[in-house]
Amino acid sequence: MSDIEIENIDTILKNINSGIKGKKLYPVGHPAIAASMTKSYQALSELLKTNNRIFVGMAKNVLVFEETPLMDAEKKLGELIHQINQREIEGIIFEKGLAQKEFFSFIDVLSEENALKGKELQDMMASKNILHISIKSIQKRSILDTYNDAVSAIKEIMNEIRMGKIPQSKEIIRLTDEMTGLVLTNRDAMVGLSMIKNYDNYLFNHSVNVSILSIALAKNMNYQKADMHIVGTGGLLHDVGKTGIAEDIIRKPARLSGEEWETVKQHPVLGSKITEKMDGLTRLVGRIVYEHHMRYDHLGYPHTESTLHPLGMIVTIADAYDALTTLRVYQRPSHPVEAVKVMNNLSGKHFDPNMLKAFVSMLGFYPIGTVVRLSTNNIGIVTKVNPANNLAPTVKIVFGEDGKQIDKPYEIDLSKGSGTHAIVASIDPLTKGFDVGQFFEEEAKSLTL
Ligand SMILES: [Fe+2]
Ligand SMILES: [Fe+2]
Repeated sequence: MSDIEIENIDTILKNINSGIKGKKLYPVGHPAIAASMTKSYQALSELLKTNNRIFVGMAKNVLVFEETPLMDAEKKLGELIHQINQREIEGIIFEKGLAQKEFFSFIDVLSEENALKGKELQDMMASKNILHISIKSIQKRSILDTYNDAVSAIKEIMNEIRMGKIPQSKEIIRLTDEMTGLVLTNRDAMVGLSMIKNYDNYLFNHSVNVSILSIALAKNMNYQKADMHIVGTGGLLHDVGKTGIAEDIIRKPARLSGEEWETVKQHPVLGSKITEKMDGLTRLVGRIVYEHHMRYDHLGYPHTESTLHPLGMIVTIADAYDALTTLRVYQRPSHPVEAVKVMNNLSGKHFDPNMLKAFVSMLGFYPIGTVVRLSTNNIGIVTKVNPANNLAPTVKIVFGEDGKQIDKPYEIDLSKGSGTHAIVASIDPLTKGFDVGQFFEEEAKSLTL
C-alpha cells in the first residue's frame, strides 16, 4: 500500500462527516450536501486507483484510516463516529470500482435514522446496489457461544486428564464467571440451554447443564455471587473423575456387574483428587465433587457420617434433574414435569427437602423446556417462568391449532389476557418429533452478552 497523505484522509472523512450532518438539515440534492460528498468521493476514488481497497474502521474506540489511527478525530468527525458506533460497525471497506452513485447511497444509509446492524445492514446495502462497499460488523458473543465454549472447555479438561496432565483451570474459571453473570441477567434462557442434550457426548453437555442448573438454584436460594461461582465450578467438574473409569463401563448399555458398579462409585473420590491439584480452585470445589453422590440421607457413596456441604447438595439436585431429562442407553428421557415428580418422591432421601422445594419453585409447575398443549389446541414450549403464577408461564407457540408446525413461532404470556390460552397438559416432545434442545439453541443465538 502506498503511503496516504493525511490531507487526503482529512478530505475524505471530513466531507463524509459533513455529508451525513447535512442530510439532516437539507433536502436531498441540495448543493451544500452534494458538494462535500462529491469532494469526498473524488479523493477516495483517487486513492482507489492505487489501492484495491481502503479500510475505515474503529479500533479500541479510535477511528482508523487504513493503518493510521486518528487520535483527535472525535471533535472533527463526531457524526461519522457516532453513526459507525450506532450500527456496530467494526470496519467499512471501499473497493476499487466504486461508483459515485454507490458512494452517495452509502452516505444515505449512514444518515438514516433507523440504524440497521449486522445482516440487516448488509441486506439493505445490497438492495441499494452498493456493491463496492462492504461492512464488517462487530462480532458480539451470544449466550450460545458461552454454552458451546463451556462444552469445549470441559471436553479439553477431560482429554488432558486422560493424557495424564493436570488440567488448566483458567478457562473453566472464566466461563463459569460468564455463566454466573448470564444466570443473573438471563436466567430463563440459560435454563433453556440446559435442555441441550448430546447423546454421543453425554458427559460434556451434562457437565455444563449441571453447572447452569446449580448456579440457577444457588441464585434462587439467595446465595452470594461468589458461592454461585463455586457451585458452578463444582457442577462443571462434578464428573471429571469418570475419566479414570474405562469407557466401556461408563457407556455400558446394560446393568453393571457388582464389580463394575464399585468402579463407577470411585468417580467422586477420583474427581476430587483431580480438582484439588488444579490451580486457582478453592478446596470447596473438591468437596462438592466428593460429595455429589452422598445423598441427603447419607445412603449414597462414598459413605460418610458427617454433615454434607449445602453447595454439594445443590449439585446433587441439578445432576439428577439433568440425568432424568436426558436420553440414555438404558432410559428414555423424562420430560421436565415427570422429572420433577420423580424427584419429589425422593425428597428427604436423595435430596434436601428445602433445597428441592427451592429447585421446583425455580423451575415452576411447568418447567422451562416443557412442551405443552393449550386449550386452543396449539402446542408450545415453556420459555419463561412466571414467579407470580406458576401455572401460567410464557409459552412459545410452535404448532398451530391444525397441528402443523408454524413458520414463525410467537410468544404468549399466559398470565396476561383473558385466560383463553390455558395449559391443558404437558406432552412428550418425541410424539411431535420435536427437538427441544435445538429449539433453545436457535433462541440463544440471537441473545448477545
Ligand atoms: Fe456423578
Ligand atoms: Fe453427573
